[in-house]
Amino acid sequence: MLAKLLRVIVLFRVFSSLVAGSQGHISVVLLGATGDLAKKYLWQGLFQLYVDQIDNGHSFSFQGAALTPQEQGQTLMFDALKRLSCSPDIFPGRCTLLKDQFLKRTRYWQLKTAEDYISLSRDIESSVRKEGIQEAGRLFYLSVPAFAYVDIARHINSSCRPKPGAWLRVVLEKPFGHDHTSAQQLAKELHTYFLEEEMYRVDHYLGKQIVAEILPFRQRNQQILDPIWNRHNVERVEIVLKETLDAKGRTSFYEQYGVIRDVIQNHLTEILTCIAMEIPKNASNSEEVLRNKLALIKSLQPLEKASAVIGQYQEYNGQLREELQKDEHHFSTTPTFAGVVVFIDSLRWDGVPFILTSGKVLDERVSYVRVLFKHRVFCVQSESQRDSRSSQCKPRQIVFHIGHGELKFPAVLVSQNLFKPILPEGSWKEVADLSSHHLYGQPLSDYYVYRPMEEKDAYATIITNIYQGKKDAFITTQNLMASWHFWTPLLESLAQEVPRFYPGGTENRNLLDFVISGRAVSFVLEQHLEFMTSDQYSQTDSYKTMPPIFRGSQLVTAWSDTLVSLLAQDIEVTAEEAVKHSGVFHLALSGGSSPTALLQRLATHHYTFPWKHTHLWMVDERCVPLTDDESNFVSLQENLLQHIRVPYLHIHPMPVHMNQRLCAEEDHGTEFYSKEISLLVKNTSFDLILLGMGTDGHTASIFSHTPEAMEREQLVLLTESPVKPHLRMSFSLHLINKAQKVVVLVLGKRKNDIVTLISRVKQEPQKWPITGVNPNTGQLVWYIDYEALFR
Ligand code: BG6
Repeated sequence: MLAKLLRVIVLFRVFSSLVAGSQGHISVVLLGATGDLAKKYLWQGLFQLYVDQIDNGHSFSFQGAALTPQEQGQTLMFDALKRLSCSPDIFPGRCTLLKDQFLKRTRYWQLKTAEDYISLSRDIESSVRKEGIQEAGRLFYLSVPAFAYVDIARHINSSCRPKPGAWLRVVLEKPFGHDHTSAQQLAKELHTYFLEEEMYRVDHYLGKQIVAEILPFRQRNQQILDPIWNRHNVERVEIVLKETLDAKGRTSFYEQYGVIRDVIQNHLTEILTCIAMEIPKNASNSEEVLRNKLALIKSLQPLEKASAVIGQYQEYNGQLREELQKDEHHFSTTPTFAGVVVFIDSLRWDGVPFILTSGKVLDERVSYVRVLFKHRVFCVQSESQRDSRSSQCKPRQIVFHIGHGELKFPAVLVSQNLFKPILPEGSWKEVADLSSHHLYGQPLSDYYVYRPMEEKDAYATIITNIYQGKKDAFITTQNLMASWHFWTPLLESLAQEVPRFYPGGTENRNLLDFVISGRAVSFVLEQHLEFMTSDQYSQTDSYKTMPPIFRGSQLVTAWSDTLVSLLAQDIEVTAEEAVKHSGVFHLALSGGSSPTALLQRLATHHYTFPWKHTHLWMVDERCVPLTDDESNFVSLQENLLQHIRVPYLHIHPMPVHMNQRLCAEEDHGTEFYSKEISLLVKNTSFDLILLGMGTDGHTASIFSHTPEAMEREQLVLLTESPVKPHLRMSFSLHLINKAQKVVVLVLGKRKNDIVTLISRVKQEPQKWPITGVNPNTGQLVWYIDYEALFR
């Protein structure tokens, strides 16, 4: 009986291998066969493919390839192959047999020259011929650095294409360029060798079980989700990839990319599309899925510099210098942490923030997507008194827990007060015994928790997807370009930004927490240290402040955005003190472009500013009507006044337009303004005067060719500018120097020459009026940004 059964089994195997051969032969060529990725994941994934497909129609051969010479490469490769393992449902005896078969079908090739590629192709053809079967396809997996792609592509195209009727699939690993232009260039070159359908660009996050489940989950639960998957119900979406590891060992790669290019432009953006795209009518139609993805990427609202906060772990520069052998002055601003807020221009998602965050050396390793729903119920009963059925008081969320973290396994969590989700029976199971854990702000018992029955490695899924030609699990050229088109402007605007330095791990505490206001994000904690030379940086192990000096007075310096926010803060503190002391704050503001950002910052970030007690004065004005675009008052109105509530009588425009004339001496405008000042400002000493500095060293509207303006004891003067509009009204140096505090704000590399020059000269107001700013008893503070200070 047993012998009969064995015979049947053997016959079945012979039959199925015949059937297997009947669909043709597939050759898999793995370039980079001895590399890290191959050792860790790819060989195992290929072995898995072999095991899964052994009875399903195709026969396989595997060619590992690298630049290493034959003997050495072969040893290295077969060492890596010793680690292959089978899934637990395969008996050990069968596993050994399968591994044996797999190894017999695997060869090593040194692929370096055109001839090497030709011999490989000939070998494939002759073995197919020998087996007497058709060739079904060739799969080239390029697990090599991106700079080698084009060369390899040329060789494959010229000598390794299979005969007509068999397919060619070429698999590429990121990076796919560095920005829009470089990605376009690479895509263009690849397109000279391959058709779009022949290219499979991998994003390994699309192979992760939970990420791959997002769209099917939305589809399976569409009836319940449809009415709530929108701006009316979703509060926000968090897409998070936190890591504890640093960039050590790969700083030469990391330095060129940074966190946004490394994981946000690709992995997190792909996840975003899975969450936010419209569900295709036919989800098994790759083209339709890809079309909807593309539409979503194209509907992302353009990012601005303020859409992101960036950080860098403190050890990074040290590691970089060591690995790249840079000297101690080398200073990198590559971000290792970023938080970005993205908005979508669609009726479904308008106004819903999608927060994309990732970083190295953070407190935990975890990746997830969390869709947090709005809460309209106000629960009066205190939590401890609440009856456990009052679930409307609890948060409502859906979490796609991709991996790691406290949960330890991939899972989908749905708040029980939302709905009981449907997941595929047979491959997913409900987890019920987790009640003591707390996750995403709720005890696990508040959720329906589902996990896959069998955990699969992302690369095993990716390799199966390549085999099945499931193109929607890969990145098309169009989608890649759209993604770079979206991210490149942000990357460019952040190129000069100094990241916030963080110590790493739990030490970070809330240093990296950020808050969304409007379309912008900012760190919750202000960091006061923004001036460090690279020397000081290398010696710094904590956030110590160094007050630097410029022309004998205090200097505050940072990149412009930070500088402006520091100055706004300084003004608010000065205002509060003045109001506390005398009940009123007299603030005089200059015109010009530099203060614009400051005015906007004051308008949008300083809700507790004592505007009710503030008088606003003009340091200078152009002799144009007060409605003219050139008017400093118009700028004040547009950037500040219209956003705040300041008593009408506290606004003091300069009287440049009287009796339908502009700055006519006989109208005595300067005297009127001086009188108003004398009347309201105690001792004509302003609490704070904000000045700018021109590239010629002028300040307020005091220019070098009007020396009398500097000598007179007058408070307000008429002056003449070398540029249009020529006639101006201005505070005198005499009035400026009477102030309690004078701040000079200087922004932009245009100002670098004058900053350098006046840092060296003595007091020569006749040549450079700014050098005449020297408060009699008050304080002078220079706010100069890095670009102006260092170019
Ligand atoms: C890779 C990045 O693409 O993704 C790495 O280059 C990052 O820097 C990794 O560590 C994260 O992937 P996973 O699968 O470990 O979450």
